Amino acid sequence: MSQFAGKTGLIVGIANKRSISWAIAQAAAAAGARLALTYPSERLEENVRELAATLDKPLVLPCDVASDEQIDALGAAIDAEFGGLDFVLHGAAFAPKDELNNPFVQTSREGFRVALDVSAYSLIALTRATVPLMKARGGGNVLTLTYLGSQRVFTNYNVMGVAKAALEASVRYLASDLGPDNIRVNAISAGPIKTLAAMGIKDFSSIRDVYKEKTPLRRNVELEDVAEAAMFLLGPGSRGITGEILMVDAGYHAMG
Ligand SMILES: NC(=O)c1ccc[n+]([C@@H]2O[C@H](COP(=O)([O-])OP(=O)(O)OC[C@H]3O[C@@H](n4cnc5c(N)ncnc54)[C@H](O)[C@@H]3O)[C@@H](O)[C@H]2O)c1
Repeated sequence: MSQFAGKTGLIVGIANKRSISWAIAQAAAAAGARLALTYPSERLEENVRELAATLDKPLVLPCDVASDEQIDALGAAIDAEFGGLDFVLHGAAFAPKDELNNPFVQTSREGFRVALDVSAYSLIALTRATVPLMKARGGGNVLTLTYLGSQRVFTNYNVMGVAKAALEASVRYLASDLGPDNIRVNAISAGPIKTLAAMGIKDFSSIRDVYKEKTPLRRNVELEDVAEAAMFLLGPGSRGITGEILMVDAGYHAMG
């Protein structure tokens, strides 16, 4: 029997077929999960609907994670259709372009607010809205996506590094709050992958070149590497793991 047969999941963060969230959605669907996918704006709705059409009975809903109203409506719509939820994948992140081009010291108050709101606070809001649905299933699983820029300086990553540090701390606090409800909260810290969000970071491809040279595995990670690690963290094999940031980066973080 498939590992996720009878399970339902919410996937937030699909922009196109290169999105890490889409790779995870495909892996979860292939393992038998029924999924709700979201789009943040009309501009991306068609992309998400086209991808969703390749899945079995998907639910496609709007959700700008900066909007509490949309998050609440999302929770209600999923409850009405699925009557509960087994897992949530949070793959939303954003920082205004200037913040990824200018020196970090020039980070604006508004740029900081937006980056932290969309990329970190949204995990808390999304988790809170879906806790009752996961409780209805006797427990659940929340997974988010982060990057080593939370701990170390990567040129041009700037305020996203601060947002990822807040995101990772939120993983630990949420794990502590929700463990008694049998809800686990974890993150994957992925190595650099060429996606829409990544292309917003100036000179991103040079980061990938460095990884290829420096990682113990002498390669970059690909979407499938992250998706398979996500299946582990969302599945029963990781039942003893929560509050964890799992490095899926070909070992880059271990190097001096
Ligand atoms: N690509 C990498 O190298 C890499 C490495 C480590 C971590 N990550 C993280 O993985 C996650 C997914 O990014 P990706 O690389 O797949 O790129 P992506 O551009 O495909 O995904 C980012 C998603 O965030 C969504 N988003 C932005 N603002 C939003 C909002 N207000 N409401 C809802 N959704 C919103 C976008 O629509 C997009 O779908 C991000 O958290 C990113 O920081 C990426």
